[in-house]
Amino acid sequence: MADLTTKLLGMTLAHPIMPAAGPPVRDGDALLACAAGGASALVTKTISVKAADVPAPNMADFKTYFLNTELWSELPPEQWLEVEYAKAQQAGLPMIIGLGYTADDIAALAPQVAPFADAIELSTHYIGDDPGPMQAAIRAAKVAGVPVLVKMSPFREPQPAALAAQEAGADAIVAVNSFGPAFGVDIEHGGKLWMGGKGYGWMSGPALKPIALRMVYDIAQVVDIPIIGVGGISKGSDVVEFLMAGASAVQVCTAAITKGPGIFGKLAQQLDRWLDKHDYDSVADIQGLALKQPVPAMTQPPILLPERCTGCNQCVISCVYGALYLVDKKIHIHEERCAKCGLCISRCPVDALHPPA
Ligand SMILES: Cc1cc2nc3c(=O)[nH]c(=O)nc-3n(C[C@H](O)[C@H](O)[C@H](O)COP(=O)(O)O)c2cc1C
Repeated sequence: MADLTTKLLGMTLAHPIMPAAGPPVRDGDALLACAAGGASALVTKTISVKAADVPAPNMADFKTYFLNTELWSELPPEQWLEVEYAKAQQAGLPMIIGLGYTADDIAALAPQVAPFADAIELSTHYIGDDPGPMQAAIRAAKVAGVPVLVKMSPFREPQPAALAAQEAGADAIVAVNSFGPAFGVDIEHGGKLWMGGKGYGWMSGPALKPIALRMVYDIAQVVDIPIIGVGGISKGSDVVEFLMAGASAVQVCTAAITKGPGIFGKLAQQLDRWLDKHDYDSVADIQGLALKQPVPAMTQPPILLPERCTGCNQCVISCVYGALYLVDKKIHIHEERCAKCGLCISRCPVDALHPPA
């Protein structure tokens, strides 16, 4: 068994996988279910000074992506303070309390949640791309005397925002929130819209993963504080990818909705098996590996390992340059036709094509 222990902001976690703010952590009971499902820490649904008035319908699943128009918690802060946080504390796990949004909101909420909080997570979703309001919110949260995590929405330029957060005193970055606005039409029901509210929503789930990974990878190159990766994680290998891209831990929302709160323990098991199979001893061994790799410049065709080839033809079909072909169900290449695009390497399900050295 690999060592999954994860140290984060003074907390020692059994593994790096925790819930993200959303329906799976919508109240104390839901948080206890996440703990029972194997989460290593609890992140609570974002609350603000008033309960949110959430439109309905507000969630739809399309397998490769997910749309939602949820806002923050529909429960008033008083209920969280009087009932829900104390209930969640029964799990005995570190608690990261989600708060939003403006500096005034945070100044009112942070001291009140402090007795329950091992850390505070600030959502920046509704305060725009200007770093000023985010920095003011961070400074307001620091008054609570616990580490402050700042959750980024997917930006085109994450590095300046992450640096501004660090400068204002953020102790960690969480990347990313859902992406959008995004839209979908229910074609089987006369073109009805899937989402209430404005009719469009925010995208999460597997399609968000490459955007989130890019944010983590970019941010990790400029900040000295830990990063928690979130976006599209649904299997152990996704966790590996985030850790290699520079994350120290990860959060999961959509997969915890669609697969239930048992996902946290399952992901930890899958992560453990992946590490064992690849001869890594611990999560620390893979953390940030991609940051040490040069950006590839492919000057040679891929290396073929015909002994692994099963003749599935996936690479041949998609080789738009006509460079790959099968003989007796084994892969061959017309080297002179290969454009070194690299696609075949990612398409091969049995690792029979390797990047050149
Ligand atoms: C239905 C729903 C509600 C969400 N509510 C919140 C929220 O209250 N606060 C927040 O910071 N992020 C919220 N998120 C964003 C998630 O925490 C997460 O950042 C995003 O969905 C990407 O992760 P995923 O692909 O694992 O879902 C919500 C996401 C969904 C799908």
